[in-house]
Amino acid sequence: MSTYQNLKVIAENGICTITINRPDKLNALNRETVKEIGEAVKEANKDANVLSIIITGEGPKAFAAGADIKEFTGLTKEQGMAMAKAGQDVFQSIEDSPKPVIAAVNGFALGGGCELAMACHLRIASDNARFGQPEVNLGLIPGYGGTQRLIRYLGRSKGLELMMTAEMITAQQAFEMGLVNYVVPQENLLAKCVEILNVIKTKSPFAIGAAIRAANAYDETRKGFEAELTEFGKCFASEEIKEGINAFLEKRKPQFN
Ligand code: COA
Repeated sequence: MSTYQNLKVIAENGICTITINRPDKLNALNRETVKEIGEAVKEANKDANVLSIIITGEGPKAFAAGADIKEFTGLTKEQGMAMAKAGQDVFQSIEDSPKPVIAAVNGFALGGGCELAMACHLRIASDNARFGQPEVNLGLIPGYGGTQRLIRYLGRSKGLELMMTAEMITAQQAFEMGLVNYVVPQENLLAKCVEILNVIKTKSPFAIGAAIRAANAYDETRKGFEAELTEFGKCFASEEIKEGINAFLEKRKPQFN
């Protein structure tokens, strides 16, 4: 496996574990990290010794606390759209991975972190995990497929409620809503993922890939993802995003009205 600046990648016993390694920034997904996740997934899919993939975050606190908000500063509409397109493409490549990908959600999965978890085929959460799409606090919307996948997992009603209120939900609530497959104590998180992958690895790899392709064909038009890019870009042309980003950087609540 290659070495990466923002990831730890280890392949053993047929499982490639990709760990986002920016714990002091709660594993916030800067552009470089998103790009590296795409490269690591691609590499794992090419490696004949790898049968499955786990994506997780370093440390006990966060899976990923979202896109790196500092990188939003001063972006134009077009730059915002380009950033979202790069993220959407990487997350789509995860969803399209022919080898099963599990998100081991070890803490905050917010914004892009929640979107990353939703792009994986299965989600196992530690009991301290929290999920949410808090972008409206910044004057923004999810841009890495979250508007589409949240609705898919939770339905329009709950999905829009989370997007509009920016409320976080607990691992247990996420389980009850069908967003996560299991909730386990943090110390058992990776073991639970391995247990599931050990079951899957006894099955036909061709059939696993076929199941993923068929499931992904469910909403093949992908028109909503394009609408998300356009709306995400438009947010950068509004005055409100400046207040949202400044408020986060100044560690205060935004004043939009
Ligand atoms: N982008 C950039 N930096 C981030 C980040 C993000 N999405 N999330 C956290 N960080 C950084 C903080 O700025 C802080 O850095 P500093 O020590 O240099 O000031 C560090 O990570 C620790 O975060 P902090 O906010 O001090 O931790 P906390 O326990 O008080 O709060 C959260 C945790 C997750 C509630 C809070 O960090 C948060 O709201 N993050 C942003 C979530 C978000 O809006 N995500 C969507 C982005 S589109």
